Amino acid sequence: MRFSQEFIEKITDSNNLVEVISQYTQMKRTGSQLMGRCPFPDHAEKTPSFSVSESKQVYHCFGCGKSGNIFSFLRDYQGMGFPEAVEYLADRSGIAMPVPQSPVAQDAEEKQRERKRQISEANKLATRYFVDMFKKLPAQHPVREYVKKRGLSSETLETFQIGYAGSEWDGLVNHLSSKSIAKEISEAAQLIRAKQSGGGYFDLFRERLIFPIQNHLGDSIAFGGRIIFEGQPKYLNSPETPVFSKSRTLYGLHHTAKFIRSEDLAIVVEGYMDAVSLYQAGIQNVVAIMGTAMTSDHCRMLKRMTNHVLVLLDGDAAGQNAAERSLPVLLAQGLYPRGLVLPDGQDPDDFVKTEGVEVLKQKIQKSEDLFKIVLKDWMKSYIGEAQQKVQLADRARPVFEQMSDLRLKKLYVQELAQQMQVHPNWLVEALGGRTQLSKTPTIAGNSLASANPVPTKNDSGFEIELKSAPSVEQTLLALAIKSRANFQIFSESKVESFITSLGVKSVLEIASNLSRQGPEKFDRLLSLLVSKVDAPDILFFNDQIHSLGHVFGTNQNSTAETEITEEELTLDKETQILKDAIRRVRETGLRDQLKKLALEMKENPKADTVERMQRLQIEMRELKDK
Ligand code: UTP
Ligand code: MN
Repeated sequence: MRFSQEFIEKITDSNNLVEVISQYTQMKRTGSQLMGRCPFPDHAEKTPSFSVSESKQVYHCFGCGKSGNIFSFLRDYQGMGFPEAVEYLADRSGIAMPVPQSPVAQDAEEKQRERKRQISEANKLATRYFVDMFKKLPAQHPVREYVKKRGLSSETLETFQIGYAGSEWDGLVNHLSSKSIAKEISEAAQLIRAKQSGGGYFDLFRERLIFPIQNHLGDSIAFGGRIIFEGQPKYLNSPETPVFSKSRTLYGLHHTAKFIRSEDLAIVVEGYMDAVSLYQAGIQNVVAIMGTAMTSDHCRMLKRMTNHVLVLLDGDAAGQNAAERSLPVLLAQGLYPRGLVLPDGQDPDDFVKTEGVEVLKQKIQKSEDLFKIVLKDWMKSYIGEAQQKVQLADRARPVFEQMSDLRLKKLYVQELAQQMQVHPNWLVEALGGRTQLSKTPTIAGNSLASANPVPTKNDSGFEIELKSAPSVEQTLLALAIKSRANFQIFSESKVESFITSLGVKSVLEIASNLSRQGPEKFDRLLSLLVSKVDAPDILFFNDQIHSLGHVFGTNQNSTAETEITEEELTLDKETQILKDAIRRVRETGLRDQLKKLALEMKENPKADTVERMQRLQIEMRELKDK
């Protein structure tokens, strides 16, 4: 669903970032800011350096540099996508979600939502039921023995809400009925089934260890049940339901999102046990794809937290297959996939148990580019015959077609060409022609023309690239948008045309649109931007880092003589750094133009060009004299 700007504003207005963050770390008020310890687990700090601005509704950690608004916090800390965060915040503040216009559609959607709510309720009750069933088992019970044998600690059972479904045929049927859940709902939740004949219902899960599958919020949306002794299938999974889609769910993510974010790496395993076992052993940035292929939805979910994905592969043909299948999907989403093939047909759970977690961590450290792993497999029986060359190009094509990072693509083509002993040009053509390679990537931020002051939210990553901007442009940007006064200075400087970074340009364009719409809009800017840019840090000017002089090496003792307050001093410093940055951007721009003209002169000397060069030189000199 698309949300209107008003609706987003309504929910951001009624949810205070300070309160949301206070659920995770204690905040103390100091002046206009609140300070506390950074809640992100990768930044275990003793002295509080995490600040929240209540007026601007943004946070920034001066220690680890994380920053953002309420949406980026929920994304990074809880792994919520934009729509989920909207729903969560609406729910939190008791605001009804917007409904489509037509009354019929409105009615249908309302019904659907109510049904989903009931299904979720049934799942919640079932989770409790399974957990209680397990807890009630006597100490020597074989199921307890099995759990012990698999090495699951009681803490892990608790974290993942692992439970047990007994051997009765109608235990859950009756339990859910006693809690007034309609049979139709329990059935839609795929917890019970109608008997073929004779009426009545039976439990879907019997005599199995139950792994509830949770969404981002920790609500159970489905179940995986492992057989305890012999039997088929080994794992029985809930089929799709209105609240569960396997291709859009990553097992464990609710617990592991924050670790994925803080490690800047997602480790993807296949099975429930693998995820649980690694988590328990201390590798917590892990998710399981539950025996399916990696989907683009999975990748998009991970991309909210990291660009780095490591696929743990079984050391067999199936593992190789999985590698080859997941590679294009990961690359298409602009992720940087690595792979690790475990030896002797072991899965990750076996491996940590036999070799220990440290050995696995070392292996993870030394993991290879997933492309390389796939490439090795491709080259296995390759002897370079002409037919093989063509066959291999055909096999590689789907992988290459999907690559979204053209720089990476070029390197991979080179590598493959070298191994195949063919000319890269031949390979490029065989892979589908030059057009593929020279396709211009969608440049972040390019689409942010003035019609809409703020890019439409989508939850598939960042739209504005700031990281690659020259550092002087980054400083200029941070200061220009810091206050309305600074922005005024920037606007008057007319330096826009010299800015080279498209990302910086588009942010400034947004700022200028907003400032035309009014001061309140301008003050919203940071909050609107933080989840849109690749490096929100850059938006926050931190004078600890940008202390005067050491950034630009200018002399600025002018303020030292008169007695002024500290605040005035910092303000003054800030203005100076801003002006200095503006000057430097202009200078670089002029110099570049001069260079270009000089080249033109060499090739095609014209009086007109000379004149333009002279004008630029005068401008340069004036700039220096200032
Ligand atoms: P595996 O067969 O590798 O199981 O299936 P595992 O995770 O190692 O489990 P243990 O260690 O034997 O208990 C990997 C994943 O594939 C799905 C499950 O999600 C499982 O975790 N699967 C497997 C099924 O859905 N059904 C099956 O019958 C088997
Ligand atoms: Mn296993």
